[in-house]
Amino acid sequence: MKFFKSVLTCASLVSTIFAQSSSVDSYVATESPIAKAGLLANIGPSGAKSSGAKAGVVVASPSTTNPDYLFTWVRDSSLVFKAIIDQYTSGQDTSLRGLIDEFVSAEATLQQTTNPSGSVTSGGLGEPKFNIDESAFTGAWGRPQRDGPALRATAIISYANWLVSNGNSSWVTSHLWPVIQLDLDYITNNWNQSTFDLWEEVNSSSFWTTAVQHRALREGVALANKIGQTSVVSGYTTQADNLLCFLQACSYWNPSQGYITANTGGGRSGKDANTVLTSIHTFDPAAGCDTVTFQPCSDKALSNLKVYVDSFRSIYGINSGISASSAVAVGRYPEDVYYNGNPWYLAVFAVAEQLYDSLIVWNAQGSLSVTSTSLPFFSQFSSGITVGTYSSSTSTFQSLTSAIKTFADGFLAMNAKYTPANGGLSEQYDKSSGTPTSAVDLTWSYASALTAFAARGGFSSPSWGASGLTVPAVCSAGSGGGTVAVTFNVDATTTFGENIYLTGSDPALQDWSPDTALALSAADYPIWSITVNLPANTDIQYKYIRKFNGAITWESDPNNEFTTPASGSYTLNDSWR
Ligand code: NOJ
Ligand code: NOJ
Repeated sequence: MKFFKSVLTCASLVSTIFAQSSSVDSYVATESPIAKAGLLANIGPSGAKSSGAKAGVVVASPSTTNPDYLFTWVRDSSLVFKAIIDQYTSGQDTSLRGLIDEFVSAEATLQQTTNPSGSVTSGGLGEPKFNIDESAFTGAWGRPQRDGPALRATAIISYANWLVSNGNSSWVTSHLWPVIQLDLDYITNNWNQSTFDLWEEVNSSSFWTTAVQHRALREGVALANKIGQTSVVSGYTTQADNLLCFLQACSYWNPSQGYITANTGGGRSGKDANTVLTSIHTFDPAAGCDTVTFQPCSDKALSNLKVYVDSFRSIYGINSGISASSAVAVGRYPEDVYYNGNPWYLAVFAVAEQLYDSLIVWNAQGSLSVTSTSLPFFSQFSSGITVGTYSSSTSTFQSLTSAIKTFADGFLAMNAKYTPANGGLSEQYDKSSGTPTSAVDLTWSYASALTAFAARGGFSSPSWGASGLTVPAVCSAGSGGGTVAVTFNVDATTTFGENIYLTGSDPALQDWSPDTALALSAADYPIWSITVNLPANTDIQYKYIRKFNGAITWESDPNNEFTTPASGSYTLNDSWR
């Protein structure tokens, strides 16, 4: 594989830094208060754009048509409040406490609201979104989404940790822990079940979901120990270890192409902002450039960042003419067709934030390491760079970090260029014209601006315990070695004496042999059915065949295809083709 290499003369490097950082400085200065106000306007009951929302409820966007986002998503709300809680606990804004308490109460109510995913005790915590009056949303949707409880626990735990440090453990025990515990119990019981991804489209295992669940359980254990809730510790630790194992699975990290596959299903390249968002939302400044938790400056996360960013260079018109090692506009994933598939502000901010987080760590540890895995990333900034560790006193460290700062600022400059004059941040901007599109005033866009700006300023969230974790030598359930019970149902009308069989790309499916193909049962005719144990996290191809008087008829091409989930069971409902 060949990588583009940039040759920057000293003069051009200096002028780029100067030009970009001064305009980016002014974008940060003007956009910060707008983003903060935009975010607060979308929180009930008194936010200017959230009329009808109950106290502490975050409206995803005030947009009511094309798209209708006047709902509250557990994911968006939790990410938004994590940013608010960090501002409060770091002393940047001490006025936010009332809002934080209202958020906790609102989420406690939503936890108890029975919804299409279930009740509080039967899976209801996996429900992705609710009406803003806290009633259940009952329309069709991609559910469950199992990242919500983890992100909510992380937000509330960060508040709890601050309260404990400030002498208010009793409030934590009485008001926060019950909410946190429900979410952590949900993760413990369900982490190895399939989930819709954060984009609400793919039902499989998802890197983001696995990583944020792992984080939540780890910090849950630490909090439980601090406040004497020790009965949960061993159960949570066992599942956190399993999650850390699963995070390493080859269905996620793709060593030959140097990127993280976002979902085990979905049939896409797997290059996805999912993975960059994971790095920034599981950043632990105490964990250095640790690879097992994919820290922002880990070699895997940096390699992944490059592959992800590069996947947008040629597909968005507004990126044309931009050199191969400069910032470009990026979106959710290159195959995206939602609103035609465009750059998202929050994805562009996330790339910048991962780079700023990396700079924080390199500066703190006084060195950076280039490995064979991260070499393609670093080669963008220095064509001659070689594998090694460079101390902060070397000119290599200095020129790399300043080029990476410029690269990061380039992503902010990209969003700045497509931010309208009033500073409002929608969900997306058009890939050809740059005009803002989809939901206006997306609360998550504002939060992503604030956290990227904070990281640029050197701020990082408190540590969550990622430091020094080791992957257990033996991984149990869901770590890639297990099997999944897959039920194949096919609707097929047959004549008397004719039977339906199944064969496919796995030994358990007879490796495509029509002779030894598995016979299906017609107990529910015309539905023919069989349940087969197949390897977890595996791409499977298969076809049904008919046998009649010794003659074999195959289904027409192409092969049917799916990916088995991490564990549990899975059902396919097909029609004979
Ligand atoms: C709405 C979801 O929120 C969005 O993420 C998805 O892309 C579209 N539905 C299309 O499935
Ligand atoms: C669509 C996004 O894909 C999803 O992640 C988000 O939760 C909702 N919009 C609401 O903002």
